[in-house]
Amino acid sequence: MSILVVGGAGYIGSTMVKRLVEKGQDVVVVDNLSTGHRKAVDPKARFYEGSIADHAFMNDVFNKEDIDTVVHFAAFSIVPESMDKPLKYFDNNTAGMIALLEEMRDHDVKRIIFSSTAATYGIPEKSPIEESDRQDPINPYGESKLMMEKIIKWADKAYGIKFVALRYFNVAGAYPDGSIGEDHGPETHLTPIILQVALGKRDELKIFGDDYNTPDGTNVRDYVHVLDLADAHILAIDYLKAGNDSNIFNLGSSTGFSVKQMVEAARKATGKAIPAQIAPRRPGDPDSLIAASDKARKVLHWKPQYDDVEEIIKTAWNWTQKHPNGYEDRK
Ligand code: UFG
Repeated sequence: MSILVVGGAGYIGSTMVKRLVEKGQDVVVVDNLSTGHRKAVDPKARFYEGSIADHAFMNDVFNKEDIDTVVHFAAFSIVPESMDKPLKYFDNNTAGMIALLEEMRDHDVKRIIFSSTAATYGIPEKSPIEESDRQDPINPYGESKLMMEKIIKWADKAYGIKFVALRYFNVAGAYPDGSIGEDHGPETHLTPIILQVALGKRDELKIFGDDYNTPDGTNVRDYVHVLDLADAHILAIDYLKAGNDSNIFNLGSSTGFSVKQMVEAARKATGKAIPAQIAPRRPGDPDSLIAASDKARKVLHWKPQYDDVEEIIKTAWNWTQKHPNGYEDRK
């Protein structure tokens, strides 16, 4: 039996694919390459280029392959872009999920692992955030993923499609061998931007706001290594295969770092000066997002290997130095 990874050419999806392949799993990848990179996909996985919203295409993939589990990474995930283009997010993310679930239902595929997000919580009512806390997104990206969570829940009730929704906090780092990593065009995420400054490709980092309700005034986020995240997905697959019921887990390190602290950690990890300047707030940013991730540790037996942001940044720096132009430099 094979695992289908949709969005398997993206940053997190390609890490998941490589990890599964390393563990001897047969992997099928679907990606429309709208933001992903063909070169990021492990050559041992079978690759199909197309959209999860294309019923004829997905019908064909499910007919050709013997798939028993789907892992979903095929979503747009840029918070500020979602503020400007909300319908793009509801279309690709939410409507894309409906089409995928319809094909799963029609092909009797009964398991899905879904990449949800901390952005579904909005401004948290307390910190650290627990899975049962109120979800009230403040950006269309978070709203699109909350809708996807709800849709899957009803698909479970009606069709018995079991799911694990994993609410990621801030993902960072790269495969430790530097073979694959983060490469978005244009880049908006903090860690790769900091490292582009370290590399001399950008003059300085703009810190979006220093008047938030946090200790140093800059946004606080909970950074988790991309490999630890992939491992949590593998544990989630095992959890469903063992016959457990659908469930939802936060994935974070349970430690918050401010933007200023991240810059400081990156200066240590790279030995570079990394000039930074305070700039106006960016729309859609909550003050602070920190996960309570005890549930994933207890129920899934998840043990993240990286608990130090400097170490996480070092793996991203390794990738950035080996591939200063991202996948353009990768054979
Ligand atoms: N930031 C800067 N300057 C930059 C880029 C980012 O100050 O040039 C700040 C942002 O304002 C934010 C923090 O760095 O406070 C992290 O920003 P990212 O864009 O790296 O990540 P986000 O927190 O916006 O979002 C990420 C994922 C989402 C996910 C969210 C959950 O992209 O998919 O984490 O915490 F939902």
